[in-house]
Amino acid sequence: MLIHDSLVTGRQREDDMPEHEFLNDIERVKINLEAIFINPETSFQKAQENLLPSPESSKHLRIEDGVPISEYYEGYVDMALLGYKAGIWQDADGMLYVGADEIPDEIFSTWGLTEEKREDRGRTDVSFYLNEKGEALFKKLYKGFVVVISRNLEIAKGIAKAVNEGQIPRLASETFGHTTYEPTAMQSAGEIKPGLGGKEFLRPGKTINPDQATTTELVRLKDQFYLNMGYIKGQYIFLDALDDLRKDWAAKKKPRPVTSEDMDRLALKTEDKMKQKMDELRYIVKTVEDDLRHLPANVTTIMDMAGGAGDLGLALSVFLRAEGRSLNTKIVDPFTKSGRIDVFTDLIIDYLPFSEDLRAGTEHTYQTIQEAKITPDSIVVAKHPCGDLCDSIIENWIKSESPLLVIMTCCQEKAANKRARYGLPQEEWTQLCNDSGKTNSPNPAIRSAGVAAMSRLDLARVEHLKRFGFEASLTQNPAFPKGDIIVARRKTAQKK
Ligand SMILES: C[S@@+](CC[C@H](N)C(=O)[O-])C[C@H]1O[C@@H](n2cnc3c(N)ncnc32)[C@H](O)[C@@H]1O
Repeated sequence: MLIHDSLVTGRQREDDMPEHEFLNDIERVKINLEAIFINPETSFQKAQENLLPSPESSKHLRIEDGVPISEYYEGYVDMALLGYKAGIWQDADGMLYVGADEIPDEIFSTWGLTEEKREDRGRTDVSFYLNEKGEALFKKLYKGFVVVISRNLEIAKGIAKAVNEGQIPRLASETFGHTTYEPTAMQSAGEIKPGLGGKEFLRPGKTINPDQATTTELVRLKDQFYLNMGYIKGQYIFLDALDDLRKDWAAKKKPRPVTSEDMDRLALKTEDKMKQKMDELRYIVKTVEDDLRHLPANVTTIMDMAGGAGDLGLALSVFLRAEGRSLNTKIVDPFTKSGRIDVFTDLIIDYLPFSEDLRAGTEHTYQTIQEAKITPDSIVVAKHPCGDLCDSIIENWIKSESPLLVIMTCCQEKAANKRARYGLPQEEWTQLCNDSGKTNSPNPAIRSAGVAAMSRLDLARVEHLKRFGFEASLTQNPAFPKGDIIVARRKTAQKK
């Protein structure tokens, strides 16, 4: 208390000072400190008066979402007296300071932020916390003091809440400025899909139970997965597309009802699309079959990054269950709740082999890739993570201790304006990202430019993984223009 009082008594300015003002100010502090030695008791009394909550500070303490916020520095004492372990001081400029006895770093890693030591006002090792765009959101000056540079009250409240409640709150990823790519269906619908409204009849009466299956039947179950998954996804996607088609025709200048020919065309298109999706899944599983059979004993979880409905996680989980190994699936995707995709996953599971076990062992985390924590007992998989999500997954996997990474890559058009990676010049990166969107073009010349760009990007990723010492490979197949598969393995002893 005495030391703090010496620092603040007689202070002319609250904000940063140029060097000469700072040196004068130190003289003031010296005089205050000397006064303590001359008359400790009076100094202590004065310090108490100055620092204990004043009627003003108590009056200006507000509680928002369970977090105390004061416009007075002394407000911290008000907060402590009310029993809070952490709180926020908001100064006259709106700058936010979170004070506590200790603010654990785990909060920031859970939020997907990176720590960087930077120079700050003469100190060389101040921890700044950056979002994935490299923007500093806040800095931790002492073990219990964080300055929220971004002045984002949600972040400040989140930190204080984590300390007060002992549980790290989940904040919307936009709060941190993490990159997200909305699923196309949500963008084009312009509204959140209604989920299963009116389509409950799609639920089957009984579930498939493989409990008493023989070895041959277990092999058959692997195939059954694709048949049933294709069937149920196809039904739902068809009905959804039919709704859209009806709306499209109704909104035209000359509206007309959807004809049976329209429906036939749509059914064929849906069937083709489902066949392609199931073939892609089969192809991924086949590519890593051997790795799956030799997973380390501690592996318990499949993290399906940018997972959508979790098709890949479920495919791998069923394959492994048919081989006698039970792994749980975590679907990491921030849009699965708002798009009601989680409801869809639940519906799909009804149709799949091992449905009851899958239901018990499948979880949606509703997180972004950047927020998701990769644990050493997880393998990381992803199918078509768009934009630069693939690159974020690779970066996070490198930092983890997970033994296996499997990604079927996607075009990167949406990342054209993101920072260049893998040592590529920005201009070339932008060009490659844009070209990578052309792999589906019906024009062979354009398509091959797309394939070349995808190959270049995917090879750069594989080289990057190799540089970090991992065993990494790229598998390509002309039958799957959006089907490059990157596999990286961490040798058992190889830590991050
Ligand atoms: C092309 S879809 C692929 C979905 C699924 N893996 C599949 O193959 O059907 C890309 C997915 O990325 C999700 N996504 C977008 N931004 C994300 C982020 N920052 N972290 C995790 N997932 C994200 C979208 O919600 C979408 O489901």
